[in-house]
Amino acid sequence: MKDEVVELGEPDVGDLIELEALCFDYHWTREQFLLGLEAGAFKVIGVRRDGVLAGYMAFSLIADEMEILNLAVHPDFRRQGLGEALLARSFEICSQSGITKSFLDVKVSNDPALALYRKFGYKKIGVRKKYYPDTREDALLFRYDFQNNEA
Ligand SMILES: CC(C)(COP(=O)(O)OP(=O)(O)OC[C@H]1O[C@@H](n2cnc3c(N)ncnc32)[C@H](O)[C@@H]1OP(=O)(O)O)[C@@H](O)C(=O)NCCC(=O)NCCS
Repeated sequence: MKDEVVELGEPDVGDLIELEALCFDYHWTREQFLLGLEAGAFKVIGVRRDGVLAGYMAFSLIADEMEILNLAVHPDFRRQGLGEALLARSFEICSQSGITKSFLDVKVSNDPALALYRKFGYKKIGVRKKYYPDTREDALLFRYDFQNNEA
């Protein structure tokens, strides 16, 4: 059965915090999620497997730009197409919202994420040296142009 990607909101914040803690050393707090959702600063979409939040993606839509803020899949459910399903759903939302380009930053060592973004057609446009406060790793900046591609 196809995994259903749905929009998440305030009632899901407890599950989001748990999933973030499993996936990242440096993660968002309950307050950051609640403030962002309340202010409409970002959208959060997610997918459940047997009631468990198995993956989520947070992204902002400002004017004609989409920025990926966070994307994570539960370690037990990786390599099963969920990252791809989340990204594909966000692209559908973008095409309904007049978005023309998307940006993200990713740690230079994050091979799974790099492979996923490249598979979707993102291209590297720059590097921010020692960008991440937790590891002091470089960030790679990626961009995707919707008008030149089929989402
Ligand atoms: C990156 C992440 C979201 C991928 O999610 P996922 O559900 O496992 O990915 P999918 O199963 O949808 O894989 C889709 C594509 O991503 C790439 N990919 C995913 N995991 C990979 C891995 N371990 N090694 C290499 N490529 C990988 C492949 O291109 C894959 O396509 P393929 O199956 O045809 O080879 C997941 O590994 C994760 O949550 N990592 C920790 C959090 C994180 O780093 N998030 C990104 C922050 S920028």
